Amino acid sequence: MHLENESPLVKKTAAFVKDVLLVAEGGHDWQHIQRVVQNAQQIATKEACNMEIVLLGALLHDIADSKFHGGDEGKGPAITGSFLDRAEAPPQVTEHVVQIIRNVSYSGGITRDFYSIELAIVQDADRLDALGAIGIARAFNYGGFKNRLIFDPAVPPVKYSDKEAYKNNTAPTINHFYEKLLLLKDGMHTETAKAMAKQRHMFMETFLEQFFNEVGSPAFSI
Ligand code: ADP
Ligand code: NI
Repeated sequence: MHLENESPLVKKTAAFVKDVLLVAEGGHDWQHIQRVVQNAQQIATKEACNMEIVLLGALLHDIADSKFHGGDEGKGPAITGSFLDRAEAPPQVTEHVVQIIRNVSYSGGITRDFYSIELAIVQDADRLDALGAIGIARAFNYGGFKNRLIFDPAVPPVKYSDKEAYKNNTAPTINHFYEKLLLLKDGMHTETAKAMAKQRHMFMETFLEQFFNEVGSPAFSI
């Protein structure tokens, strides 16, 4: 992540986020933010977009994930709005970034109706970090944090149609690949992210094939 040439507002935001997320769970911490910013920069160079909005959105997107705040989805947008106001960001910048924070999450994305290319880039950048080698590492880190089983042949993956059921499930971590991670590649918005997702997806498929071979169980499918 390189922010040396970015605006004082972007640098100030990076310092704020780093400070807040230093003690966060390993999959949603400052390192995750740095990877998402890096992905977002890579994607954004190929799109007609406002780079400052993209960077502010990427930096602030997990400032208060509802999963870690008792399901409160208003906290991230509220912290973002008050921080950007205090930093004297132009009101239209604050408004746009707050919309991105409100709409970026996977589960939120199913129901909300705001769209901008900057939101699409931040969402692609965040989802890419759930794929590939880093995606595998994050999934098991999250599962460990939640004290979940790695795998249980008696608990096959299911298709969640509603948001509450998805959020409240406590299934083994391997199920998360079938319930979410393998579905992400088809939801990418930009060409750059589609290509990156394809490669990371293939790597996860290889991992899963080897996993089921090693445990000696038939592979899951959905
Ligand atoms: P979003 O907020 O966009 O819905 P998440 O915060 O759920 O996305 O996902 C962020 C990271 O946490 C991803 O790497 C994801 O794989 C991991 N994660 C979320 N839920 C689970 C789960 N049930 N099991 C394993 N990993 C999970
Ligand atoms: Ni994220």
